[in-house]
Amino acid sequence: MAESVGVLDDEQGAAEARAALVDKLIADGMITTPVVEAAFRAVPRHLFAPEVSLEAAYADHIVRTKQDKQGVTLSSVSAPWLQARMLESARVGPGMRCLEIGSGGYNAALMAELVGPAGDVTTVDIDPDVTDRARRCLAAAGYDQVRVVLADAEDGLPTSARYDVILVTAQAWDVPPAWTDQLVEGGRLVVPLRLRGLNRTVTFESRGDWLESTSVLYSGFVSMRGIGAHDKPTLALDGERITLVFDDDLPDSPDQLAGVLGTPRVDVDTGVIFPNRVSFETLQLWLATAFDGYCHLAVDKEKTPGLIPPPVGMGHAAVDGASLAYLGGDKIDDDWFRFGVHGFGPEAATLAEAFAAQVRHWNHVHRDGPGPRVTLHPRNTPDSELPGGRVIDRRHSRIVLLWP
Ligand SMILES: C[S@@+](CC[C@H](N)C(=O)[O-])C[C@H]1O[C@@H](n2cnc3c(N)ncnc32)[C@H](O)[C@@H]1O
Repeated sequence: MAESVGVLDDEQGAAEARAALVDKLIADGMITTPVVEAAFRAVPRHLFAPEVSLEAAYADHIVRTKQDKQGVTLSSVSAPWLQARMLESARVGPGMRCLEIGSGGYNAALMAELVGPAGDVTTVDIDPDVTDRARRCLAAAGYDQVRVVLADAEDGLPTSARYDVILVTAQAWDVPPAWTDQLVEGGRLVVPLRLRGLNRTVTFESRGDWLESTSVLYSGFVSMRGIGAHDKPTLALDGERITLVFDDDLPDSPDQLAGVLGTPRVDVDTGVIFPNRVSFETLQLWLATAFDGYCHLAVDKEKTPGLIPPPVGMGHAAVDGASLAYLGGDKIDDDWFRFGVHGFGPEAATLAEAFAAQVRHWNHVHRDGPGPRVTLHPRNTPDSELPGGRVIDRRHSRIVLLWP
């Protein structure tokens, strides 16, 4: 008797926690359509996170399900806000055929609700622990119709099936041909991509042999494993206390930068003020577009003489030859800060001024805008057939950032 009362309490508690989460996602603008709302109200998220408390299962955070020996997350049930945003932009509808890359169970169950009985959902994961777990959770929650496949998604699925929606839930560096080949014309590929070192989830719509973005979302995912894994090239400076993280190759002659932080620092005030706790994600993309040598500066907590450590969330930098400049910020008050730039090296002043000029340009032209559109083309597309913009060459694709 006591046990069944406990179960009832739990079910009641889960229903209340789920309702509160959905209300929050609507209030935050993450759920915007009744169909996605209905899916979130229907799927019992706690059955896909049995390892954690009800409170943790229904918090608007990831539930980590697997990590490596260093504590790096290998698999998780993604955060509800991000799942909601991705499903909204994927526009999954009744009868659609969908492929999810990276399994957890919960998101596939949401997709199953959205496609309904006439639709079809397959989820693929490279890790047998993850597929076993996802199968168990899907069965427990009554979503046996979702097909769970163990495979490296790099090669797509060994079937001729084409999908209306392919939704990728691991951080990709490139888009392999299998994903675009398995998409119907007009279909949508939602993929967390590294764009010049910045993590953005891009929703693309297929336009025949190329794709065009319909949304670009600031977000991060666990890294892709297997054939498509890609380590970020890094350059350690100042006895490894500072690391520069690049998107693809290291700059030419990286040795020139060895002593750069020992040179006198040049500070430039941009004059651009910005509210605290507000994302300036389009500035990051603008700097990444503007500078060939764009990179990210990661600083060990221990201070380095001469360096003003970039505030948390900053560290956007550019190198040019033996010089380095990076974005900083000076607090004005509790609500506002001012963007500054710090430069080092023989061309410190020139590079820092150029960097500050780009911050000012963004402030005048792009600050209130939507950010760039992204297009994705097959690797063999000649320059003459690409739209004008910052081209990012990958192994399988050519990605272009186009600013309005
Ligand atoms: C964030 S988790 C997936 C979350 C899940 N979609 C959910 O329900 O919230 C990312 C998953 O991607 C998987 N993954 C990484 N590389 C992969 C690859 N090459 N092919 C298939 N799955 C991969 C990982 O094993 C991990 O389980």
